[in-house]
Amino acid sequence: MKGSKVKIAGKELISYTDCSYLGLNDHPKIKEAMISALNKYGTNNSSSRLLGGTTELHSELERRLARFTGNQASIVYSLGYMANLGCISALVHPEEFILLDMKSHASLVDASMLSHGKIIPFRHNRLDALEKTLERVKGKALIVTEGVFSMEGNIPPLDELYELANKYEAGLMVDDAHGLFIIGENGRGTAELFNLEGKIDISMGTLSKTIPLIGGFIAGNETIIKHLIASSRTFIFTLALPPHIVAGAMAALDVIEEKPELRTELFKRVDYVSGKLQSLGFKKHNSVSPIIPVDIGNEEHAYKIMKILEKRGIFVDVAVYPAGKIDKAILRFIITLKHSYEELDYTITELGKACKQFGII
Ligand SMILES: Cc1ncc(COP(=O)(O)O)c(C=O)c1O
Repeated sequence: MKGSKVKIAGKELISYTDCSYLGLNDHPKIKEAMISALNKYGTNNSSSRLLGGTTELHSELERRLARFTGNQASIVYSLGYMANLGCISALVHPEEFILLDMKSHASLVDASMLSHGKIIPFRHNRLDALEKTLERVKGKALIVTEGVFSMEGNIPPLDELYELANKYEAGLMVDDAHGLFIIGENGRGTAELFNLEGKIDISMGTLSKTIPLIGGFIAGNETIIKHLIASSRTFIFTLALPPHIVAGAMAALDVIEEKPELRTELFKRVDYVSGKLQSLGFKKHNSVSPIIPVDIGNEEHAYKIMKILEKRGIFVDVAVYPAGKIDKAILRFIITLKHSYEELDYTITELGKACKQFGII
């Protein structure tokens, strides 16, 4: 993929499925850093991080991610999925409880199952329900949620979650895969938005979205990170990230830190799309991020609209059960800096026409 387009069966479509929000996946600085590291280190060193896999680049990236998120330390895994799996399974014991927001990403669900802790899901962002459970499991729970929910782009009341965690002596883990690097004045994630930088026990991020590579990380205090290094199975028993990926991630971090105007431009586009959709008669959504959900409801209609859009040169995801509730299908548009205003205008017009056919607006 280059620019905003994907080629499917020989036809170019404007794609709304790519989470590299700042459009960095063709950035010359990142590619140069990767090529230079490839030349220096080769393709990989075929070794786990605890054996020969750690280079000075890995350690530097971990220091930088810790500093960026306002934490003492961080640990980089080969995937965001692995970060969640390795972290929760290493921290939660079978006699402990994981209080999991019901709309949490599958990797958090899988991680919780792997831990053998007792999982108690709570209704999406319903802190009253969460508090009732916390009363029962005081001192023995980890609350797990997302910073920006990946399907609908909304955020949880992190300040209230933080207070509840303190009140009931629970840990708090926030998967900020979609928030880190774009949300908050300095892109330091949902924690920054709530003035909680460095206060969340466990912050998770990926290197596969705004940082457009592959990998994931956990940031927290030194004790937690040391424990993860020593006991996290998805860190120990797999290959280290290749050094050129690590070099690329640091170059992406440079761009993110040096160019705050990219975030401003991104959110201008997000506000533009949201405003236009509302003026066409679409329901107001709760997203505060570049993930724009368009409610369709009926799953068959959602697929039909997706196909109509595809014919008109627009590629978008449909999220249906089990990603959401039955018959609450949404079209999930992901806005990035790669989309021009002309492309956005064209998409909104075509979406409006297609949705009118099904009585959605
Ligand atoms: C909320 C959330 N957490 C974790 C992940 C997994 O991250 P990765 O793709 O880096 O493995 C994703 C990816 O889709 C995600 O959306």
